[in-house]
Amino acid sequence: MNILVTGGTGYIGSHTCIALIDAGYSVVVADNLSNSKRETIENIKYITGQDIPFYEIDVTDKQAVECIFRKHKLNGVIHFAGLKAVGESIKKPSTYYENNIISTLVLAKACLKFGINQFVFSSSATVYGENEVPFVETMDLLPTTNPYGETKSICERILKDIAQANPSFSVSLLRYFNPVGAHESGLIGEIPNGPPNNLMPYITQVAIGKQGKLKIFGNDYPTIDGTGIRDYVHVMDLAEGHVAALTSKREGVQIYNLGTGQGTSVLQLVRAFEESTGIKISYEMVDCRPGDIAACYADVQKARRELGWVAKRDLKTMCRDAWRFERNYDQVLK
Ligand code: NAD
Ligand code: UD1
Repeated sequence: MNILVTGGTGYIGSHTCIALIDAGYSVVVADNLSNSKRETIENIKYITGQDIPFYEIDVTDKQAVECIFRKHKLNGVIHFAGLKAVGESIKKPSTYYENNIISTLVLAKACLKFGINQFVFSSSATVYGENEVPFVETMDLLPTTNPYGETKSICERILKDIAQANPSFSVSLLRYFNPVGAHESGLIGEIPNGPPNNLMPYITQVAIGKQGKLKIFGNDYPTIDGTGIRDYVHVMDLAEGHVAALTSKREGVQIYNLGTGQGTSVLQLVRAFEESTGIKISYEMVDCRPGDIAACYADVQKARRELGWVAKRDLKTMCRDAWRFERNYDQVLK
């Protein structure tokens, strides 16, 4: 089985390539390297011992995409390629709408044209908006607070409509909670572009001395200790969730939350990191970040029941692996 992985040199895509190869799939990678590095493909090859066809293309480019479909006999597509920085999406909405929506349309149409029936899409827990936790797949979606989030809701809608009109086209909409950590080799992981926006990479950069204090955004949320609650999930567990979605071969449109089902506060994550690594993280409390919600965690029963998938790696392992990659980072990506 041969899978086209768009965004395959990015954070989640690169880990998914490894999980797919471990499960016996072959992969073809397409990425424009706008938020990732070419070295990653070499590291995936090194870890898996497999040769991987790599195309440096923009997946909004119909001709370039069709060229890959013509050249390789594909059995499915996992579409990770997308822009994902919430703050940047507010400053550059048209860039986000164009990149994330056109790429999805181009790939879905290529699948229909070439008779490829399995499509897996990277959605996000952000589509739930400020719903009541835990978030369940059957909930009505609420508006998100930014163009990035809207692109995910719109792409979900587009793919549902295409699948409805084309009954042989199966779509998995995977709603990720907060992916963190890295492959245990320490050779691939998250590479933030500039100062990190997300919590775990910020913590690891404080630990290594690239950042000063961690700023904790808000300490008067209605949560256990006043700081925001999220559902952190190890990126390798998330990657294995994609393999489970592909192998389940369910028909029609399937939506799955990929998280642990456990809520963790910012302070709890800081403490878990300190316990896991022995490094103290200095922090200060600052105002809430606009657009943040108090709590976000998954109901994970559907993925467990229908895919047989559960996240196995604990918070300590997530912290250990994120830290290992941070320490290796300058060596593996020179
Ligand atoms: P990432 O930025 O590390 O990876 C995305 C990859 O897509 C990058 O390598 C980038 O170069 C590539 N890309 C972007 N636009 C492209 C285009 N038009 N053509 C070709 N390549 C293109 O991000 P990630 O964290 O691995 O996220 C993967 C997907 O999962 C994204 O769609 C993201 O929105 C979604 N997602 C991520 C998170 C998260 O916390 N990381 C949470 C929910 C959903
Ligand atoms: C953010 C995005 C979300 C996206 C997700 C994954 C926003 C508003 N939301 O989610 O759309 O899907 O990243 O890319 O940007 N925190 C701090 N200090 C920091 C960083 C974060 O206290 O320096 C807190 C946040 O307030 C939050 C928690 O840590 O409570 C997790 O934040 P983050 O890692 O950015 O993820 P999300 O906010 O869940």
